[in-house]
Amino acid sequence: MSGKAPFIAGNWKMHATPEQARALTAAIVKEASAVRPAVFVVIPPFTLIAEASGIARNTPVLVGGQDLFWEEKGAFTGEISASMLKEAGCSCVIIGHSERRQRFGETDETVNKKIGAALRHGLSPIVCIGESLEEREAGNTMARIQRQLDEGLRGFDRSAAGRIVIAYEPLWAIGTGRTATPEQAEEVHAFIRKNLEEKYGNETSAYAIILYGGSVKPAGAYSLFKKKNIDGFLVGGASLEAGSFIQIAKEARRAYEEEIEK
Ligand code: PGA
Repeated sequence: MSGKAPFIAGNWKMHATPEQARALTAAIVKEASAVRPAVFVVIPPFTLIAEASGIARNTPVLVGGQDLFWEEKGAFTGEISASMLKEAGCSCVIIGHSERRQRFGETDETVNKKIGAALRHGLSPIVCIGESLEEREAGNTMARIQRQLDEGLRGFDRSAAGRIVIAYEPLWAIGTGRTATPEQAEEVHAFIRKNLEEKYGNETSAYAIILYGGSVKPAGAYSLFKKKNIDGFLVGGASLEAGSFIQIAKEARRAYEEEIEK
């Protein structure tokens, strides 16, 4: 691992009631100080952001949105702007999740515009990239990753890049129970860091937070986090239960502590 404190984000997707959102956030807030210095982010559906941020306010737990639209305001029925997220208590936002790319027409171009909007409003974008099973089997994983980085990050300078979190989420691992092996994940993470280094230089790439996502569970978290270029996780299914979400952070912290004691 890279020596950074684990960054553990929970993408609730289209799940939870207000009551569940309050209980889950409160449970994470309660445990967070015991897992220092891990950084926690809860990412509820839009309608539950206020519930979560009410509970997380003035605690180390951050709240994020699952998407945004790049315009500031106007006739865009169904959309949410960066400033709306910010006002609701968000400090970050997922952009380009594969479910949005596959089902809702998200492209590298729209990802690029959304990153810009997030940065203009002081939200940290968590930008998701990843290859399909077909692309992997055809040997096109790195080409796919490269394209998503080149097009998604087009036009951002070094200081902007320093605020972007990248989440590598291979499509074949999302919601399938099939986690990438630590070696498979590390290979792509190292490629991503190298790409960031070419774009923005050594320092920015070394500090960049690169998350792994795709069926992350407590059982695999330690060995994934042990890898040099894996700085944390974007967790879907296992983030809906406070116990498993916290346990993932504890496993990562165990790897982190071993590293800093060296
Ligand atoms: P999963 O989802 O952990 O349920 O595979 C991850 C994600 O989609 O971010």
